[in-house]
Amino acid sequence: MTEQVATNVHWHHGEITREDRTRLIKQKGATLWFTGLSGSGKSTVAVALEQKLYELGHLSYRLDGDNIRLGINKNLGFSAEDRAENIRRIGEIAKLFADTGVITLSSFISPYREDRDRVRAIHDTAGLTFIEVFVDCPLEEVERRDPKGLYKKARAGEIKNFTGIDDPYEAPEAPEIHLSTAAMTVEEEVNLIVDYLKTNGYLGQ
Ligand code: ADX
Repeated sequence: MTEQVATNVHWHHGEITREDRTRLIKQKGATLWFTGLSGSGKSTVAVALEQKLYELGHLSYRLDGDNIRLGINKNLGFSAEDRAENIRRIGEIAKLFADTGVITLSSFISPYREDRDRVRAIHDTAGLTFIEVFVDCPLEEVERRDPKGLYKKARAGEIKNFTGIDDPYEAPEAPEIHLSTAAMTVEEEVNLIVDYLKTNGYLGQ
């Protein structure tokens, strides 16, 4: 757990509430947390979902592993400690985005259950929705896809601590949404998520 370092700091409430923002943009913010092995399809589904939500008139925003690691988290590597800090920061950022009313699509391997549960807890504490989406794809399949050629390098020992090879991936035990990406089309996956969002009232209908 990261300790609070600064003292004498307090959350400052404004005049406009979350409910005001929800009314303004006609949707309820939430974080969809895509977790799965590298190459499982997290970013692909998030990109397609972002497009579908846009067509339906809803604002979403993607936070993506590689992009975030090129910016705010450029000082972090892949040790368990750095992965935890990576996920902690993204979790806090996702929480802020969700609070604005944006449907936030976070795609990170996030291999440790404890790190993901911590993000869920900070959303719960803030009264915000956290929807865990398990982007489930067998290791053999992601290795066959190997879109970035990283599994080949990891097998050759050129990348250390690579998730699924010589670093663990702890699958979610009770994700809100489970996508079997080796068996479903991207369109089917997107429809499943949109139906979930509609059914649970996140799209304001
Ligand atoms: S996480 O474990 O901290 O959640 P994150 O999703 O941000 O990882 O980044 C994963 C991406 O970093 C992978 O898709 C891959 O492109 C790249 N990468 C580079 N080295 C590693 C590694 N050792 N393990 C996993 N991914 C790696």
